[in-house]
Amino acid sequence: MTSRIEWVASQCRLLATIAEEFDRTQPFAGLTIGTGIHLEPKTVALLLTLRRGGARVLSTGNLNTTQPESVAYLNAHGVEAIGEPTQHDSVRNEYLDEILSVEPDLILDNGGDMFSRWLERPYERLRGGTEETTSGRIRLAPLRERLDLPILVINDSPIKQFAENRHAVGQSTVESFLRITNLATNGRRVVVFGYGGVGKGVALSFQRAHASVSVIELDPVLRMEAMWDGFMVPERDEAMAEADIVATVTAARDVVTARDLAILPDGAILMNIGHLPVEIDVTGMAADPGVASFGPTDAGISSFRMRDGRSIHLLTDGHMVNLAGPRPLGNSIESMDLGFSLQARCLEAVAKGEVGRESCVVPVPRRIDEWISRAYVELAKVRRPAS
Ligand SMILES: NC(=O)c1ccc[n+]([C@@H]2O[C@H](COP(=O)([O-])OP(=O)(O)OC[C@H]3O[C@@H](n4cnc5c(N)ncnc54)[C@H](O)[C@@H]3O)[C@@H](O)[C@H]2O)c1
Repeated sequence: MTSRIEWVASQCRLLATIAEEFDRTQPFAGLTIGTGIHLEPKTVALLLTLRRGGARVLSTGNLNTTQPESVAYLNAHGVEAIGEPTQHDSVRNEYLDEILSVEPDLILDNGGDMFSRWLERPYERLRGGTEETTSGRIRLAPLRERLDLPILVINDSPIKQFAENRHAVGQSTVESFLRITNLATNGRRVVVFGYGGVGKGVALSFQRAHASVSVIELDPVLRMEAMWDGFMVPERDEAMAEADIVATVTAARDVVTARDLAILPDGAILMNIGHLPVEIDVTGMAADPGVASFGPTDAGISSFRMRDGRSIHLLTDGHMVNLAGPRPLGNSIESMDLGFSLQARCLEAVAKGEVGRESCVVPVPRRIDEWISRAYVELAKVRRPAS
């Protein structure tokens, strides 16, 4: 029997193609790559691909998403995976600093943490790197002048936008809801906060799972787009008063707060899909005087028991529901194969000096998007055994 890590690696066909090429071309020979990314089987496939390109690779995990088997596998296969799984920023920051103290030539950032920390203690040899997320782009864009390095934002590739954000996150969110709660989505009133690329997919996936979906979006144009896409766009509090399921996908802080505890109906289930566990103010809610107790109900489910007899449930403590909780699977392998192939090609472009300082916090170069798309379509052609 192969392990899940090996199953995932065997399905990352685009990364496998790139890894075979890297065996020959060695774009990272003599270079160190530092990263702090979710350590799970798909990132294992990416980090091992970078290793095959000749890099020394150092990695720590992200908050609450590190899978110990992935860490053990990486360490057994030449990647230096640092630190234990943690929910605490301060602990993770120590691990990030440990990686930065080695002065990596390239950074693969996930949320802007590493480049922000490099600005506090810059070193000469950093050539630049990549940023995976929307949240990271929002954080790094105002720092462009100070960063002054090539940093390619994977999230802003159209491929990442449609394959992962629009299609895969919605699927994995519904899959996680089903796996963690074992409840049906049919007929449920779902309220999705945020109608950006990711929110669109979450709303659509719940709708396709026979839920009745409302969208709450601050941007009036996107709100109308949600309406044109067939979603209800009620006033916020009106939607919350009837919600069975609330999903936050905004990259903003305190979208759902203690104030909502008075509005939500008994049995409502809250979950966050946004990168940081700040969209649902769990600490503020737990401290609300109306809450009699707050604690775990089942794996991945915590409950606010209200003094008036209602219970409001929270999945994966407000951390990304599709990457935390029991047996997290994350987004589909194919979507991550695409996103991580963009990562590998972008890091290669920075390593080879093919992009300069003018490319500071910018989308993936078009030629890379085109290469990935052609290669993916080619690999998807029907394969028959030779007769
Ligand atoms: N869980 C995952 O697997 C996964 C994958 C990709 C991205 N993400 C994360 O999902 C989040 C959203 O990403 P995106 O690309 O859709 O971002 P985006 O900026 O395109 O969309 C966010 C939307 O939320 C809206 N918004 C902000 N505050 C709001 C509020 N209080 N109420 C209602 N709407 C509000 C904004 O107007 C915006 O349209 C980010 O944190 C991103 O990092 C998670």
